[in-house]
Amino acid sequence: MNHIVPNDATLTIRPIGQTFGAEVAGMPIHGDVSPELLVQFVAALHRYRVLVVPRADVGPADLVAFSRRFGPLEIHSRFESTLPDHREVFCVGNVGSASFSRGVEQWHADSSYRPVPSDASLFYGEIVPPEGGDTLFADSTAAYRSLDAAMKQRIDGLVAVHSLESLRQWGLRHNPDRKQAIDSQTDSFPPVRQPLVRQHPVTGARSLFVCPAVISHIEGLPIDEGAALIDSLLAHITQPRTVYAHRWNQGDLVMWDNRAVLHTASLFDHTRYQRLMYRTTIAGHAPGLSE
Ligand SMILES: [Fe+2]
Repeated sequence: MNHIVPNDATLTIRPIGQTFGAEVAGMPIHGDVSPELLVQFVAALHRYRVLVVPRADVGPADLVAFSRRFGPLEIHSRFESTLPDHREVFCVGNVGSASFSRGVEQWHADSSYRPVPSDASLFYGEIVPPEGGDTLFADSTAAYRSLDAAMKQRIDGLVAVHSLESLRQWGLRHNPDRKQAIDSQTDSFPPVRQPLVRQHPVTGARSLFVCPAVISHIEGLPIDEGAALIDSLLAHITQPRTVYAHRWNQGDLVMWDNRAVLHTASLFDHTRYQRLMYRTTIAGHAPGLSE
């Protein structure tokens, strides 16, 4: 799927994954953006679910300004890892006070533990390691579509409980250093109920809302049965056909629709390399269960 699809005189979209994902050229990230281009960009996000803007080369202030065009921004629950001059920017990596995971990452959609989860996220490569530290995306929309009818019927209407405490426990098992930082936040985010199958409020497409490290249980199912169901759905979602791995170049900007895809990261050698990523997060505006 390496053909070029001109969308208008300036915005060019090139599909990059088998079922989702596209590279976008011609989108101004700095300064003014015409409403027409913005509409096209948002339409592309809804259609392709993950958009890559190579070499956007943007600073934190411009990243925040660009991100705000899509809606109000979240301030991340790990406040100590936000930029002091731009609290909307959450820092990920092993530089300064950035949020650093030295263990295995886990598939998730951002801020699923909030009553209203994030609509979309933007991720920017400020310092990228020469190997590792990829961002992997899974097309949970195409994955839902390809489930058999019996499984669709089985999971229809199921509710998963997403809990920052579950994530904290998971983090302790994989990142003992994080204990202090995460302990302080679980009181602010009590467990929330989210649909296991969510429906996108714009496209109407259904997708699998599966965040294994955050989900404590599925309502109405024994813990083991719920965990086995999550494992089985995740195996389906993360088949090669519905996964796109983004290999970062410094200055790349990637935006994804949290209502349509899951993501995770590959490890990198933190003893040899630096990694610093800036993330902004578009706040959600529709309660999960009524989407
Ligand atoms: Fe994330």
